[in-house]
Amino acid sequence: MIDVKNLTDGERGLIDRRIFSDPEIYRLELERIFARCWLYLAHESQIPNPGDFFTTYMGEDPVIVCRGQDQKIRAFLNVCRHRGNRVCRLEQGNANSFTCSYHGWTYGNEGSLIGVPYFKEYYYGELKREEWGLVPVAQLDSYKGLIFATFDPKAAPLVEYLGHMAWYLDFIVDRRAGAAEVLGGVHKWTVNANWKLPAENFVGDWYHTFTTHGSAFQVGYAAAKVGIGSSEQAPGFQISLGGGHGLGGRQVEGKGVQLPYAPVIANYLRDIEPELERRLGQARARTIRPVHGTVFPHFSFLYITPTIRVWHPKGPEKTEVWSWCIVDKEAPAEVKEAFRLFYLRRFSPGGTWEQDDGDNWTRITETSRGAGARRVPANYQMGLGHERGHGELRGRIGEIISDINQRNFYQRWADLLAEDKHASTSSA
Ligand code: FES
Ligand code: FE
Repeated sequence: MIDVKNLTDGERGLIDRRIFSDPEIYRLELERIFARCWLYLAHESQIPNPGDFFTTYMGEDPVIVCRGQDQKIRAFLNVCRHRGNRVCRLEQGNANSFTCSYHGWTYGNEGSLIGVPYFKEYYYGELKREEWGLVPVAQLDSYKGLIFATFDPKAAPLVEYLGHMAWYLDFIVDRRAGAAEVLGGVHKWTVNANWKLPAENFVGDWYHTFTTHGSAFQVGYAAAKVGIGSSEQAPGFQISLGGGHGLGGRQVEGKGVQLPYAPVIANYLRDIEPELERRLGQARARTIRPVHGTVFPHFSFLYITPTIRVWHPKGPEKTEVWSWCIVDKEAPAEVKEAFRLFYLRRFSPGGTWEQDDGDNWTRITETSRGAGARRVPANYQMGLGHERGHGELRGRIGEIISDINQRNFYQRWADLLAEDKHASTSSA
């Protein structure tokens, strides 16, 4: 049995590298993290009408999210109560009921078992159908269109779980009247890497930008006045929010990475400035603008692109990336289309920047298998001891190039892994 207490050393900023490939640790993660935390399922704009459904995962459990005739959003294990076949094979659609392809048990979209072939003839009418409906998640809630659920009936409410992260998420989902929507479908692809590597990259790794994505800067795909070899400090912060959540952002009039937005996007962003500032206030409209972040454990955003995504675990060394383009619902159609293209070209499966990252995560996962490499820890010491508060902003602050958020992420990870399975989940 692995001693989970010794896998992380927050005081010294060290991590045991086996956490990126060990099967026993992965099995514990499914039970103690993915079966207890609030997990992102979908955006409400994906299922606007009664009967709309979307299938996803919570950890490795397949889940159906659907909107009932009563408009209520529910989520169930996508697992037939008869023998365990996956009930719904589609990725999304509209249906009043779901029929299992094996023996034909049928469930209503509010989860009840409504059809059993040969119920009278061979079950003699004795099967208690009311006891064999689809298994619902323990709790489901939305934060301004973002649907989350947990398998833990004792988990703290979603808004408490998100804590200060909700305040920063408003920069994505509440920047304009009408909130946000996701465009089109979902990009899905596989990376041969442990799920924590993309999650920790998005929670706080600004450091990699100028090396990993160096070729994009070299060909002029973005301009950076602050980078490798520069003595200037990038204007912005990493913000550690407790509970494993974290984000990074920059000041409005910064000298950091300048993005080559199409004029239609640049004009739109300029036009909505007054509304943005009115709704979000000085702190989130000017002092910091969230760029990237992760809601523990595996829901991330990179808003400048603009993408939200989930890192679905598919074994200790495999992650399925699900990625959406998210925009202001009120934005004109040509602005939405320009954002969609910008997202596609940078951070989609074929995006120029996306491909830079995945290969590094794959190699880290591979080397973490080695007996020799496992004898030495990974380093998360940047900025250790230099965390501070900030009068305007919520959370603990580090320099924008810092490991503060990764340390917080792994502290939360270690705390959950060390708790026994009956403990409840709450924000740290
Ligand atoms: Fe679903 Fe038998 S496994 S009806
Ligand atoms: Fe990157």
